[in-house]
Amino acid sequence: MFAISPEGFSLDGRPVRLLSGALHYFRVLPEQWPHRLRMLRAMGLNTVETYVPWNLHEPRPGTYDFTGVADLDRFLRATREAGLHAIVRPSPYICAEWDNGGLPWWLHADPEVRALRCRDAGYLAHVDRWYDRLAPVVAPHQVTRGGNVLMVQVENEYGSFGTDTGYLEHLAAGLRERGIDVPLFTSDGPDDFFLTGGTLPGRLATVNFGSRAGEAFASLARLRPEDPAMCMEFWCGWFDHWGTEHVVREPRDAADTLAEILGSGASVNVYMAHGGTNFSTWAGANTADPATGERYLPTVTSYDYDAPIDERGGVTEKFRAFRKVLEPYADGPLPDPEPPAPLLPPARAGLTDSLRLFDALEDLAGPETEAPLPPSFEELGLGQGLVLYSGRIPGPRQPYPLSVHGLADRAHVYVDGTPAGVLERDAAEAVPDVPVPSAGAEVELLVESMGRVNYGAGLGERKGVRRVLHTQQVLHGWRARAVELGHGTPGHLRWGGGSGSARGPVFLRGHLDVAEPADAYLALPGAGKGYVWVNGFCLGRYWATRGPQRTLYLPWPLLRAGRNEIVVLELDADAGTVPTAVETRETPDLG
Ligand code: GLA
Repeated sequence: MFAISPEGFSLDGRPVRLLSGALHYFRVLPEQWPHRLRMLRAMGLNTVETYVPWNLHEPRPGTYDFTGVADLDRFLRATREAGLHAIVRPSPYICAEWDNGGLPWWLHADPEVRALRCRDAGYLAHVDRWYDRLAPVVAPHQVTRGGNVLMVQVENEYGSFGTDTGYLEHLAAGLRERGIDVPLFTSDGPDDFFLTGGTLPGRLATVNFGSRAGEAFASLARLRPEDPAMCMEFWCGWFDHWGTEHVVREPRDAADTLAEILGSGASVNVYMAHGGTNFSTWAGANTADPATGERYLPTVTSYDYDAPIDERGGVTEKFRAFRKVLEPYADGPLPDPEPPAPLLPPARAGLTDSLRLFDALEDLAGPETEAPLPPSFEELGLGQGLVLYSGRIPGPRQPYPLSVHGLADRAHVYVDGTPAGVLERDAAEAVPDVPVPSAGAEVELLVESMGRVNYGAGLGERKGVRRVLHTQQVLHGWRARAVELGHGTPGHLRWGGGSGSARGPVFLRGHLDVAEPADAYLALPGAGKGYVWVNGFCLGRYWATRGPQRTLYLPWPLLRAGRNEIVVLELDADAGTVPTAVETRETPDLG
């Protein structure tokens, strides 16, 4: 039995220190879970912690997925086989640099849902349904039933967001009613307001921080003298946004803080022990500073996190430094770290087939929707991808600026079929003086979503555009077509077909021949911005002209011996950034 007392944690009556590391199963391919979990053990950890992203498991209301990378049951079995205890942080909200913080986008298409992360009846109805499905997957793995799950979190850093403690009570009760009987806990920043907003009486409170452990634990102890000290997120690295510097944290500095945490007698969860990858369109985004106008910052595809176990599962200097700190706390000798899978030799595959997106629309896009104002992605039933909005500016008139309100997140603008510019959210959302012939002009906006905000008051955003103006006049009468981007898509491209458009994004295809599946880092010389698929699996977004990330991690399970199909969607082809080949490299370029 796992128990919590002011003195600390105990398991079957014996004191236990939780030396935990975060590893998100949904950021690593299932074939690689066992290796990564053994690497946690080799670093000196005895526990693994994972979030559960609701939006991955319920992609459409009432449609559930617990297969492949979403096979939570298989992951929890693997954690046990690796000899680790487990901590589960099960949603509804997880933050985690994950699209919408794990909340399904379709919540925003339901008029019954009026608010998130509080006792809004419409929201709670969906949460309760989700818990009906989730709890039976987790419950059998609890230590109370012979499994290895020691405790389960309620919400995530709720004190950073709101004050509806009744909502937290609802979630806790919901977990209990559905058979979660291990201790429940909360985790929050160490400031008073975080802890007063996010904690629950009678449930363990933990704190999250990257440094100044002493202060954080003192702040926790002032409020919760009866709780043993645990840092639920020790941020030993950090994540990156497109267009900003790659963030790293000195191994020595991180190891010193880890030593300080453990030296004080506390338990820890290293966030992240192994970060992995934001595959497909799952990367989230931040709004930097609401006070200064909320600049939108989308998160990159890599979630390497400068973690001790790198994106490919390899040992880093931080790994060695952490192992030294953790070793004295281990029950016995630590296993040796195992090398990751081999690397492909450097190779180059020409991208020889091409197909313009505008020529593939009939196959790729959903039915056309007409509305007076441009409908949002959510109204169109689209989670992630592109929407082509088409409207008209009546003529004759003088040239005036064309402006876009509420752009989320980036738009290629065409006037009468000619590229007129690329607009970005928060940047100049206007095309200067658009000349309109006497018969009027056709306006098209191809809008890309780049990840929903996952933290703070900006949570729950809609993608698309709110309105388009020519001078002060709102343009009415829009047609919209949605193109979903993610795993499996674009499955039905007719290479060599189409009418031969000379404009717009372009799909490119090449083949990579390999002797044996192995790891690689993909580079796309000459590329601008877009998406890459390997044998139908979407590796994620690239943005070579912006950085900082310039290679994409390609995990070996996606390859097969022989021919492998690589498909690229280059969005900025109008700007002349069209990759001609994909290259496999032996080292990552994260900036
Ligand atoms: C917070 C959240 C995590 C993650 C980290 C930053 O602590 O709880 O989900 O977003 O910040 O990586």
